[in-house]
Amino acid sequence: MALAMSSTPATRLLPQRLPKVCLALSGDTADDMLAIAESMARDNPFLEFRLDYLKQPLAALPKIHRFLETHQYVTAIATCRRADSGGKFKGSLAAQLEVLAKAHAAGCQIVDLELQSASKAKPEAIARLRSRAALILSFHDFRATRNLDETLAKMLKIPADFYKLVATAATLSDNVAMMKFLQAQSGKHALIGLCMGEQGIISRVLSVRAGSAFTFAAVSADLKTAPGQVSARDLRGIYRIDQVDAATRIYGVAGDPIEHSLSPVIMNTALRRENVNGVYLPLHAKTLKELIYCAREIPLHGLSITMPYKQAMLPYLDNSDAHTAKIGACNTVVRGQDGKLYGFNTDVAGVVRPLEQRLAIANAKVLVLGAGGAARAAVFGLKERGAEVWILNRTSAKAQKLARQAKAHTIKRADLRKLAFDVIINATPVGMGNTRDCPLKDEEIQAKVVFDMVYDPVETHLLQVARAKGIAVIPGVEMFVQQAARQFEIWTGKPAPAGDMLRAVTITLQERAAAQKQKKD
Ligand code: ATR
Repeated sequence: MALAMSSTPATRLLPQRLPKVCLALSGDTADDMLAIAESMARDNPFLEFRLDYLKQPLAALPKIHRFLETHQYVTAIATCRRADSGGKFKGSLAAQLEVLAKAHAAGCQIVDLELQSASKAKPEAIARLRSRAALILSFHDFRATRNLDETLAKMLKIPADFYKLVATAATLSDNVAMMKFLQAQSGKHALIGLCMGEQGIISRVLSVRAGSAFTFAAVSADLKTAPGQVSARDLRGIYRIDQVDAATRIYGVAGDPIEHSLSPVIMNTALRRENVNGVYLPLHAKTLKELIYCAREIPLHGLSITMPYKQAMLPYLDNSDAHTAKIGACNTVVRGQDGKLYGFNTDVAGVVRPLEQRLAIANAKVLVLGAGGAARAAVFGLKERGAEVWILNRTSAKAQKLARQAKAHTIKRADLRKLAFDVIINATPVGMGNTRDCPLKDEEIQAKVVFDMVYDPVETHLLQVARAKGIAVIPGVEMFVQQAARQFEIWTGKPAPAGDMLRAVTITLQERAAAQKQKKD
């Protein structure tokens, strides 16, 4: 590594020795900032003080000094980004350099200076600063991910200890550009690189794998200092950033939108529990073409496919299992060693597994509500296991079509009470999102088992009514867990830790419900 550090303080700060996550601290006052530092330092010994967020950065330094004296294990970056470089500091260049020099005197081992400021400053002024502190020379592009090599070439004219290039991702593919840049250049220079923005979230994990010395994290979802920043808790807890290395396999869930997907929680729990060197990321794919490009270039080892791409994925597959072809939807992709994409549909396992734990499916009489993608997985999966299936759908023509294809029956709502079902499955979205909506009237809910594919809320109104009637219930989270478990098995060849996965998803749903309630109150 061409780090010209022999006479600089950066000798003590070799990139390999730094923690992989630097926590960016903001706050309106020094007291706020230090209170957060105090509470987070033990788990996050690498902190960036965003001094430009403070009205009087210089006045905060004695407090930072005291903090760093009592927390000797902390490595601190001082940043005082000027407003014209995307920060909040309105003072002159001289004032900025003074803040950084004094921040170093207060104990910050590293200072961050933007290329724009550094280009205007006298080389001696920068050399003086760098003779004391390790210097990060930074450049932020708030619009796009472009000209990375050219920008680095410009930056290299100014001697620094780390070169930080932050771009903005407009598409998933921009992350690929950043990764390729890091892979090509990080052997020659100490680099920090990532993409901002919602589309750039994956770069916050992938860049470390590609050679970025470290990445930046937010204190919490509400205290971000850059768009798309992920909280330190999620980077460590969910994405296990500390274990991510060049050998880490990348998996992801692709959809649009994807922000609220529970798949990253459940899959990363499974990967951790089974000691798989893999990480699973949310991929906000705006087009399938872009997703396929990322699958090839990152490369991705496995993909979960969700709304709205389950059907549209089919033409991109080189081969698929029988379920995918029959159902006409793919929710799982494996990228083979040969680069080919193999499609699977694990929604069938999501329906069948929870049921077979409760009753014999062969010859069971099952009523499926709905005739969309989820219903198709249920109908084909159950027919395959020898169940007798009736379909009831709002649009009866769709029910009839599916019944013809799967050799199932249709039923009119008025006739529901003429038949006794063993199982009722709700494969419509009715009941989703804390409503009291129910796809059936109380008196229509007659069965041994009621299975609701809706998983948020965990206990839908349908399940509440069924439970009150003494009927066994299967919440949608079980389907969610089992379809994910089957994906995990396909990707890794290991049995999935379904119990841990269920616990992780249940806890997350409970946390979300509590946060929503708190917002309302
Ligand atoms: P998915 O892939 O999750 O199954 P989908 O393919 O859009 O989603 O299918 C949703 C199913 O729920 C459809 O059968 C739909 O009925 P229509 O075929 O009449 O559209 C059904 N559905 C959606 N909203 C519904 C509602 N409010 N009441 C009853 N059925 C509903």
